Amino acid sequence: MECSSWVGIALAGLSVLCVAQCSLSDVPELTNYTFPDDFMLGVSTAAFQIEGGWNEGGKGESMWDTYIHKHPEYTLDRSNGDVAADSYHKWREDIRMIQDLGVSYYRMSISWPRLLPNGTDNNISKDGANYYRRIFKELKRLNITVLVTLFHWDMPTPLMDLGGWANPKIVDYFEDYARVAFDLFGDVVNIWTTLNEPHQHCYNGYGNNYFVPALQSHGVGEYLCTHYMLLAHARVYHLYDREYRPKQKGKIGITLDAFWAEPHDSSKPEDHEAAERYLQMHFGIYAHPIYSKTGDYPAIVRERVDNISLHQGFARSRLPYFTLEEIDQLHGSSDFFGLNHYTTFLMAPSSFEETWRVPSLDHDTGVRLTQNPNWPKPGADWFTVYPPGFRKLLNWIKRNYGSDIPVIITENGSCDFGGLKDYERVSYYNKYLYQMLLAMYQDGCNVQGYFAWTLMDDFEWTDGYVSKFGLYHVDFNDPNRTRTPKLSAINYREIVRTRQINFDFIKPPGRPLHDNRI
Ligand SMILES: *[C@@H]1O[C@H](CO)[C@@H](O)[C@H](O)[C@H]1NC(C)=O
Ligand SMILES: *[C@@H]1O[C@H](CO)[C@@H](O)[C@H](O)[C@H]1NC(C)=O
Ligand SMILES: *[C@@H]1O[C@H](CO)[C@@H](O)[C@H](O)[C@H]1NC(C)=O
Ligand SMILES: *[C@@H]1O[C@H](CO)[C@@H](O)[C@H](O)[C@H]1NC(C)=O
Ligand SMILES: *[C@@H]1O[C@H](CO)[C@@H](O)[C@H](O)[C@H]1NC(C)=O
Ligand SMILES: *[C@@H]1O[C@H](CO)[C@@H](O)[C@H](O)[C@H]1NC(C)=O
Ligand SMILES: *[C@@H]1O[C@H](CO)[C@@H](O)[C@H](O)[C@H]1NC(C)=O
Repeated sequence: MECSSWVGIALAGLSVLCVAQCSLSDVPELTNYTFPDDFMLGVSTAAFQIEGGWNEGGKGESMWDTYIHKHPEYTLDRSNGDVAADSYHKWREDIRMIQDLGVSYYRMSISWPRLLPNGTDNNISKDGANYYRRIFKELKRLNITVLVTLFHWDMPTPLMDLGGWANPKIVDYFEDYARVAFDLFGDVVNIWTTLNEPHQHCYNGYGNNYFVPALQSHGVGEYLCTHYMLLAHARVYHLYDREYRPKQKGKIGITLDAFWAEPHDSSKPEDHEAAERYLQMHFGIYAHPIYSKTGDYPAIVRERVDNISLHQGFARSRLPYFTLEEIDQLHGSSDFFGLNHYTTFLMAPSSFEETWRVPSLDHDTGVRLTQNPNWPKPGADWFTVYPPGFRKLLNWIKRNYGSDIPVIITENGSCDFGGLKDYERVSYYNKYLYQMLLAMYQDGCNVQGYFAWTLMDDFEWTDGYVSKFGLYHVDFNDPNRTRTPKLSAINYREIVRTRQINFDFIKPPGRPLHDNRI
């Protein structure tokens, strides 16, 4: 996630009326819910955002290396991932920080080009294999369960040159990569996720230029990316299920991302419809093929893109079709529902907005996004805080896909522009975790884990090092990349220790007690 530049979302003005959700009446009575004993509390990172060591140990280039070296102006501070937080060298210290937080879970990703310099399995880097194996073994020794993501956006450049996720053969190459990872690490890794946030990746990277590969293939590229990412996920799920699960006894799933969509005017049925349509077009498009009873793309997505494509003169729908066999392979292809949640927007129908391109996923969706000006905005322009949105999203998932599937929040956190006394982040974690407990205890949502984003300040994609999400501060001006705990690290450690949220443990100065709960 990024803090300062809001990517991909064009805000259509902020003159929104105060609607029902700005009242505090929907905040229930505070109680002392605790995290169940087996609830997973962890922290998250991603390889490209922390590792650095971009050309060390025979690592091949990822598309982010190649693209930013060619276009240094692409990031806000003209920075790149060459050194980042230097986790490539400082991983032992990182593990000490994880230990210090007291969490029993850590989510990280493997850099595909660090393991396979050319992207293909004919050339496995010994150094890359050793690097990850040492980390996994050390975590295991310390009883920290690792959740490993195979793809967190750092596509090997040679495969990107062939079209990346828009090339149908990527499904085979992703399977080959996954097989190498399962063979090398399956004895020490028990929880895998195939892909991180295909929606952000396809929408911003293939449909727009907010993320690398910056293809701007709006209306076509987004959907090819979506289609083949989904198929690649299913292929790797079944590979694990068939060949590795019997021996390794692990779990494998996917991480999706979603905003909550709130009707702009809750008295207008068309705004409710717009909110639902937004969720289906941007979230259901990934979740429905995997988690619904019927499988395949949601009917509303299929119909809209088919119909609009036809009217635009395309002989075929811009959204590819699954074969019956593919529908079947995707259906149920995840042991859990990995969820990254960002923020909430207000939704109203629209046939065209200035910032849309035609064709595009935005135009196909036909929904205008705005923000509620009454929701707190602690820093960045896009970042409005609406904790109940999290709970509503969890309930939407339950309504659409049932409560059998365990939900794991694989990322959530808050951004600012620096500082060790991060009261906003402390309060943010308290509030969001509290909403999650309400969803669990009062609404029966089957949430089984929460991973804070992120362990330490890192490279935040197009934001470079400007926005900060870390529980630990990293001094990027110091060649040692010194790490220091922020107040939020101390607060999170207390939550992990007591398995409870104590709103008064760290209090922002000058505010009355309890004022920071809502
Ligand atoms: C919650 O815990 C606090 C401190 O332990 C206690 O004072 C309070 O009465 C508890 N509230 C409820 C609703 O249990
Ligand atoms: C394998 O990767 C290494 C390290 O990047 C590179 O030096 C070597 O040329 C590659 N070998 C082949 C066969 O591509
Ligand atoms: C493999 O990658 C290495 C390092 O990036 C490069 O030197 C080599 O030429 C590549 N080999 C092939 C066959 O692409
Ligand atoms: C890890 O867990 C095992 C079994 O519960 C225990 O014997 C061991 O002491 C633990 N190791 C550490 C480093 O906590
Ligand atoms: C199909 O798309 C056209 C053009 O966008 C629109 O006017 C029409 O209402 C749509 N029909 C259906 C059934 O969605
Ligand atoms: C976590 O969720 C909140 C609220 O939904 C959002 O504001 C924030 O950006 C999210 N952060 C991440 C890293 O997902
Ligand atoms: C960096 O680390 C080295 C070795 O740990 C130490 O000698 C040096 O003083 C550190 N430099 C700074 C600026 O902290």
